[in-house]
Amino acid sequence: MSTNASTNGVTNGAPQKAPQFALSSRMSTGRAMSLDVWSIFNAANLPADCINLGQGYMNFAPPQWVKDAADASLNTVSANHYSHPKGRIRLREAIRDHYSKDFNRTLDVENEILVSSGANEGQYAVWVAFCEPGDEIILFEPYFDQYLPSITFNHGVPVYVPLHPPTNFSDKTTSDAWKIDFDELRRAITPKTKMIVVNTPHNPVGKVFTEQELQKIADLAIEHNLIVMSDEVYDCLLFDQKPHVRIANLPGMWERTITVGSAGKSFACTGWRVGWLIGPQSLVGPTLAAQTRIVFCTNSPLQEAAAAGLEEAEQRGFFKKQVEEYQERRDVLLRYFDEVGLKYSTPEGSYFVLADVSDVQIPEDYPFPDMIKGRGRDFYVGWFLAQELGVSTIPVSEFYCDEHMKIGERFLRFAFCKDLDTLHKAGERLRGITKFYKKK
Ligand SMILES: Cc1ncc(COP(=O)(O)O)c(C=O)c1O
Repeated sequence: MSTNASTNGVTNGAPQKAPQFALSSRMSTGRAMSLDVWSIFNAANLPADCINLGQGYMNFAPPQWVKDAADASLNTVSANHYSHPKGRIRLREAIRDHYSKDFNRTLDVENEILVSSGANEGQYAVWVAFCEPGDEIILFEPYFDQYLPSITFNHGVPVYVPLHPPTNFSDKTTSDAWKIDFDELRRAITPKTKMIVVNTPHNPVGKVFTEQELQKIADLAIEHNLIVMSDEVYDCLLFDQKPHVRIANLPGMWERTITVGSAGKSFACTGWRVGWLIGPQSLVGPTLAAQTRIVFCTNSPLQEAAAAGLEEAEQRGFFKKQVEEYQERRDVLLRYFDEVGLKYSTPEGSYFVLADVSDVQIPEDYPFPDMIKGRGRDFYVGWFLAQELGVSTIPVSEFYCDEHMKIGERFLRFAFCKDLDTLHKAGERLRGITKFYKKK
């Protein structure tokens, strides 16, 4: 036996120095290496009994028939193996049958539908396929934080256009009061602009874009020959009879729009990582080529289960019932907000609500961990409330560029994709917030 053999990194009793490797330059972009908000407001850092209204995943299981389909698929041979990179035909057909009427066309399962590993990976593949170094991608703030590194890893340049929050909140204010300044949007477009990303229903505002708003975005996209990525992962979660308008259906927009969907949001299975893209062959084809080189294919058994979900949803009245359940969850939480005088805009879609916490005063000598220091005021308030009340939330400045962070700092995001019991418990704890309000 050699005398200088290394076991578990130890040579002759002395720890071996780990070799240092230079990081790829893209890791210094897109906030890739900075501590992300999910890691900070994570159960491991928060009080043990903290109620999690932070991260947007459900604390309930997918519907039984969808879980049964997952079980059944594991008991077949083929669903345990690679799928076609386009996605399993059963799921593509289920997507076609479910969505064709929404898009006023019979979707082509070979060329216009692509199953992805969660919406997230599908969006990444779009940027791999279409982003040239220096291409500018317009994001409305607050934006879903994964967009940023997905763009910069592909050498794109994010350009930020904020949604402007309402100046006054009344009990009638809805998420519709968050507005785009269309002159600002027009000014953000340059010869390098390649794409506008739209997210409706919106995370975290809960805004559902109106046809007029989408038409104005569409007009600019056509005028400047831009792609539109329409992130509609919450398309089955709209409240108060608000209609869901798909920008792809506006005149001249099908050809330039890629629409994004997610089984995770539709069937309470965010960990399954099954999503889909719908669009013209000119956008789906290159994205398929990129995706094939990224993941090759999406996990097979859960594609079968997602297919069963879509196949049976209508006959079971599933989405209608699910909307009613989410609307009740939303209203329960909002009643507690009303009780304690927290200002908010009622979300018309998705499962998030932003509450204005600018009235919360933190004692001057309150101890904060280093990971909070230097962040926006909302990080401090969110941390403070998690410690003092035992309810965790997500600070909204994380979804803004540095220049616009001030807009987001007033708000904390509450996720209401939780069972009623949890929301009531959280609401009862929130009653304690009033003792921290600034004296008027
Ligand atoms: C707006 C938006 N887009 C995309 C995603 C990613 O969806 P998936 O979990 O299917 O990757 C999320 C998840 O939170 C989201 O909120």
